[in-house]
This record gives sequence, C-alpha cells and structure tokens, in this order.
Amino acid sequence: MSLLRVLSLSVRSLRNLESVDLEPGPRFNVIAGDNGQGKTSVLEAIYLVTTTRSFRTSKLAELVPTRAAETIVSVRAKLDDGAPREQSVGLQGGRRSVRMDGVRPKGLAEFAYRSPVVVFSPSELGVSMGPGSERRKLLDRVALYIGAHALIEAESYARAQKERQRALETRGIAARDLQEWEEVMVGHALAVMRARQDASTRLAGAAREAFQRIAGPKLTASFSYAPSAPLDAVEYRRALEGSRARDLARGSASVGPHRDDLAVTLGGDAARRVGSQGQHRAIVLALKIAEIEVVTQARGVRPILLLDDVSSELDRDRTAALFRVLSEQRGQVFLTTTRPDLLPDLGWDDGARVDFVIVGGALRATRS
Ligand SMILES: Nc1ncnc2c1ncn2[C@@H]1O[C@H](COP(=O)(O)OP(=O)(O)OP(=O)(O)O)[C@@H](O)[C@H]1O
Ligand SMILES: [Mg+2]
Repeated sequence: MSLLRVLSLSVRSLRNLESVDLEPGPRFNVIAGDNGQGKTSVLEAIYLVTTTRSFRTSKLAELVPTRAAETIVSVRAKLDDGAPREQSVGLQGGRRSVRMDGVRPKGLAEFAYRSPVVVFSPSELGVSMGPGSERRKLLDRVALYIGAHALIEAESYARAQKERQRALETRGIAARDLQEWEEVMVGHALAVMRARQDASTRLAGAAREAFQRIAGPKLTASFSYAPSAPLDAVEYRRALEGSRARDLARGSASVGPHRDDLAVTLGGDAARRVGSQGQHRAIVLALKIAEIEVVTQARGVRPILLLDDVSSELDRDRTAALFRVLSEQRGQVFLTTTRPDLLPDLGWDDGARVDFVIVGGALRATRS
C-alpha cells in the first residue's frame, strides 16, 4: 500500500486567498481560523489541483476573485516510493489549464485518477437525505478511482443524450438518426452502469459494516445500486424507443444513468422516509468511511483526506468514530476547524500534528 503525500502547495488568487504557501506535515494538518477566513478555500485549492474540480460548486469561475484575476494552484506531491511530481491547475477567463510536470495531460480523468483524494465537507450531508444526484456523485467519484474510463464514458453518454434530444426536438420522434444516437447512448450508459454497479457493491459492504460500528448492532443499514434503465442492451434500446414522445415533452430521457440512485434502507425501510437526524448523520459517515476504504483498496494508494469542519457537523460520538478510523490509517489528512482545542487527541505527541492558522486569507504555521 503506498501513500500519496502533498509536499508543498502554492495558491494564488483563489477566493479570498491571495497568496498562500503551505508546507504540510506527512500526517495531520490542522487549519484553524474563525468563520469566513479561508479554511474551506484552502481545502478547495488542494481538491482543485488534484481533481481539476471543486467540491463546493460546479462553476469554477466562482473561485476566481475578479474578472481580471488568474487563479493558479500548484502542488508538489509524491507517492512514498516514487519521485515527486508537480501538478498545476489555472483558471482564467472561464478557461481551465492543467499541467502535469509541465505537460498537458491527455484527459482530465487521467489527471484526477492519479491523485486519489477524499473530501468530507458539510455540503455532502445531502448524500443521505438529499436527491439522487448526491449519491450519483458519490458513485462516480468512487468509480473514477476504480478505473478512469468511467468518467470518460459518463461524459460521452451525456453528449449522446444531448444529441438525441436535439434530434427529437428538431426532427420529431420519427427522425432517422434517433436510432443511431440511442445505440450510442446505450453503449456508453451500460459502461457507466457497470462501473456504478461495481462501485456500489464495493461501497455497500464497507458502509454496512461502518454503520454497524457507528450506530450499534441493533439497526442494519443496507445499500444497493438502483439503476434507472434496463441493464440489458436490447431492452434498454426498446425502452428508449418507446419513450421518445414522453422524452420530447419532458426535455430529457426518462430512463438512463442520469436518473440512477443508490438505495439506502434502515431495517428494510427507505432511509429517506424513516431515518432520524442522527441516523442520517451515521449513514453519511458510514458512506464516507466506505469511500475512503474502497478508494484505498481500488488504487492501492492511501488517498489524501480533506475534512472540512467535521466536528461542527457530527456530534461527539460520531466525531470520535471518524477519528478512530483516521488514526488507524496512515494517510495524510488536512482538517479545518474553528476550535482546534476541541479536536479529539489522536496521539498527536509524536509530531503527527502540524498546526496552521488562517486570518483574512493569510496562512501561517503555528506551534500547538
Ligand atoms: N470569488 C471570491 N472572491 C473573493 N472572496 C471570496 C470569493 N468567494 C468567497 N470569498 C470569501 O472568501 C472568504 C473565505 O471563505 P471560506 O469559505 O474559505 O471561509 P471559512 O474559513 O471556511 O469559513 P467558515 O468557517 O464559515 O466555513 C469568505 O469571506 C468569502 O466571502
Ligand atoms: Mg468553511
């Protein structure tokens, strides 16, 4: 099992971070600061430079402070047995430029695949209670680290779906090229669904166990893939053909992976219907622990963990459960908090903890 580690990070012009240079320690990096000082933005910078995305927004332009500004994040990272490599992501005028050791990578999926990172932020609490899109994001994140092709297939599927919709809208339900688009859609969709199925199966076992550890043995949570289209190509094509009129009216395909879900049940009932607040938090945490375990197993690399203000979202017992998992795995962790004094002790004494404080977008190292 190898370890991925950030050696140094440099951020220029990202949200309120004008210029931040960070030399993290190999284990726990605690970033403390009051509300609105830039803690989440530091994690966002790490996520951006490893995945080319943000975990807060799908609109990367939000990260760029002014129209004229250029956001640049660069990182030196290494696997424990490998040589350090440099990655950078720049955002300017609505464009994203990505470099890996100075070279533009072939695709963004390949870039993201190389640096597994798992983030736990308040914006993800919806994974239990929120709409299916939240759980699809989880499945796709995990699928990406199982194999980079999953993301490419998902993008191709989305394009084919648009083309088919355009054909429907401009030429009607008997348009001759519809069948071709549907065939292309089905091909990519089946690849996406197989990847999600695999991701679901791996997550389900780990999440079920983690839930048991967090919530006790009395209640069982179970997780299973709920695809929205037939997993058989012939049936799927037939379903698409049969739904042309409906799809024209609703503006998108009524079957397909863009409507998939991960079904979560508690003691046999849908968690969304019967779950209490505390049970939803336990589900979120169990899925997060499962994500960490599955990504680690799938890649043979311990992912970098970004934990955004988890103690304010989880109660004391669940924070303790999370930290127990963290202390068992040896990866690099970045965590933000408004109250560094309240973090549970993780055997910090042997230099495992490095503290930083951020004020008004300016970061400095402190002695704890
Ligand atoms: N595009 C932007 N340009 C400039 N500043 C921004 C931009 N987007 C957000 N900000 C500001 O950046 C600051 C830091 O935000 P961030 O979310 O990182 O704070 P935080 O320390 O995580 O706060 P909290 O503890 O409340 O979560 C905020 O004051 C926010 O208003
Ligand atoms: Mg924050």
